[in-house]
Amino acid sequence: MHPMPDEPPIEAHARETAATAPQAFDFRKHGHAMVDWIADYLEGIERFPVQPRVEPGWVRAQLPATPPVAGEPWERIASDVDRVILPALMHWQHPGFFGYFPANASGPSILGELLSAGLGVQGMLWSTSPACTELETHVMDWMCGMLGLPEHFMSSGPGGGVIQDTASSATLCAVVAARERATGFAGTGMGLQGDARTPGALVAYASAEAHSSIEKDLRIAGIGAANLRLVPVRSDRSMDPDAFASMVRDDVRAGHRPFLCVAAVGTTSTHAVDPVRALAATCAAHGLWLHVDAAHLGIAALCPEFRAIHDGVELADSYCTNPHKWMLVNFDCDAFWVRDRATLVRALSVLPEYLRNAATETGKVIDYRDWQVPLGRRFRALKLWFTIRHFGTSGLQDLVRRHVALAGDLRARVAAEPSLVPVCPTSWSLVCLRHRDGDDATQAIIDRVNGSGHAFVSHTKVDGRLVLRVSIGAPSVAGRHVDALWELIRGAR
Ligand SMILES: Cc1ncc(COP(=O)(O)O)c(C=O)c1O
Repeated sequence: MHPMPDEPPIEAHARETAATAPQAFDFRKHGHAMVDWIADYLEGIERFPVQPRVEPGWVRAQLPATPPVAGEPWERIASDVDRVILPALMHWQHPGFFGYFPANASGPSILGELLSAGLGVQGMLWSTSPACTELETHVMDWMCGMLGLPEHFMSSGPGGGVIQDTASSATLCAVVAARERATGFAGTGMGLQGDARTPGALVAYASAEAHSSIEKDLRIAGIGAANLRLVPVRSDRSMDPDAFASMVRDDVRAGHRPFLCVAAVGTTSTHAVDPVRALAATCAAHGLWLHVDAAHLGIAALCPEFRAIHDGVELADSYCTNPHKWMLVNFDCDAFWVRDRATLVRALSVLPEYLRNAATETGKVIDYRDWQVPLGRRFRALKLWFTIRHFGTSGLQDLVRRHVALAGDLRARVAAEPSLVPVCPTSWSLVCLRHRDGDDATQAIIDRVNGSGHAFVSHTKVDGRLVLRVSIGAPSVAGRHVDALWELIRGAR
C-alpha cells in the first residue's frame, strides 16, 4: 500500500466528509462480514433446495412499496438478504444444479469481481486505465494459447481478443463487423433492407439448432429475422454443409447478398458441433464472414484431447466462448477473438472530441471501446487473471475432465436402462435423454427430479419430442451427486 497523505485538520475533515463518502460506511467491517457470509453460503450450499419454491410476486410482497427516506443501518439491510433473497434463488453453484449450461464461479474470480468494483475504473480507453486494457490483452492472449486457438487471434498478429459481457454481445459485434465489411463500411448498415424476397438483401445463415441470440443479434443489427436462413441439420443435429452451400448458391442466383454464417461448436440443446471446416469452404468461395459460437463447449478445448471440436476454427473470422459458463469465472465474461481487428474497429469506432487523447493518437494502444457496443467497460480481466493463476491450466483442465467423466458415467447408465432413450449422445459434459413412453413420461421424470430439491435439470425438444438435459458443470459436483440424480431419474427415490 502507498502511504496515505497527511490527515487534514479536523474541521476541514468534517467539512469535506459527506454522508456518501467511503469513510461514512464501515466498509472494512461489513465487507469482512459479507465475505464470511459468501464463504458460509458456498460451503453450506447443499442445505438449500436447488430450485426456489416461491410463488410469483413473493419477493416483491416482502419489500416496502417506497424506498427509505432516511438511510437504514447496514445490519438491517444485510439481514434482508437471508429473509428476502435466499428463499427466492436458484442455487446455480449447488452440486445438484444440472440445468441449462453452468455459470460456475470460484473464490479467486469472486475476489476479482470485488476488486473490480472496489477500484471502480472505466477501461473504455487505454488512457482511462492502462492496466485494465493491457491485462485484458495479456490474459486474452493466454486464453488463446490455452484453448489452442489460431495464432492470428493473438494480439501480436492482425487479430486480437477482447472480453465481452456475453456470447450474445460478441456475436452482435461479429454481425456488425460482417455487415460493414459486406457493405463497404457504409457505417449505417444499409438503412431499411427488405426481407429475403427483395433482391440485394443481406442474408445470414445459422443452423436450425442455433442459439436464439443469433436471431436477436440480426434483428438488432438491422438485418432482420426474415433474412436469417435456418440451415437444416443432420442426424447429429449439426449443420448440413451441403444444404448450406446450396442455399448460398440459390441466394446468390436470386440476387441476394449472403454475408454471414454462424457456426455452433456445441449447440445449446444437444452440444452438436457444426462442421466448421466444410462451412468455411463455402464462406470463402462466396465472401461470407464465418463466426463460431462456442459459448459453452469451447472451454473443453482447454484439454488437448478435446481440441477436435475446434477443427476448422483457424478458417473463421471470429470466435467466442464463455469462461463464465465452464471455467470458474463468475458471470459475466465472454472471450471473443477476431482474425482482423481492423475490420471490427472500423465497424464500431466513433471518435468524438471528448474522447481524443495523446495515447490514442499514437496508434500504439488498444482502446477496447471500439471492440464492443457500450462505451464504458468494467475491469473484467482481473477475475480471469486471478482464476487462471490460482488454478493454473492444469487445475482448469482437471475440472473439465471431471465433468466429462461424470457425464460419461451417466451416459453409460442411460444407455443400459431399457426405459430410457439416449438422445444425440456426444462425448462431453451434456447428457440428453427421454423416456421410451413419450413426452408425459419424460415430463414426469423432470418433475420428480426438480421437485426433490436435491437436483435441477432443464429440458429441450429434439425432433418435436421432449428431452431432459443433464448438464454437468457445478464447481463441486461429484460422483455422489450424479448417483443421487440417477436414482431420481430412474424413479428409485
Ligand atoms: C451455443 C450458445 N450460444 C450463445 C449462448 C448465449 O450465451 P450468453 O448468455 O453469454 O449470451 C448460449 C447460452 O447458453 C449458448 O448455449
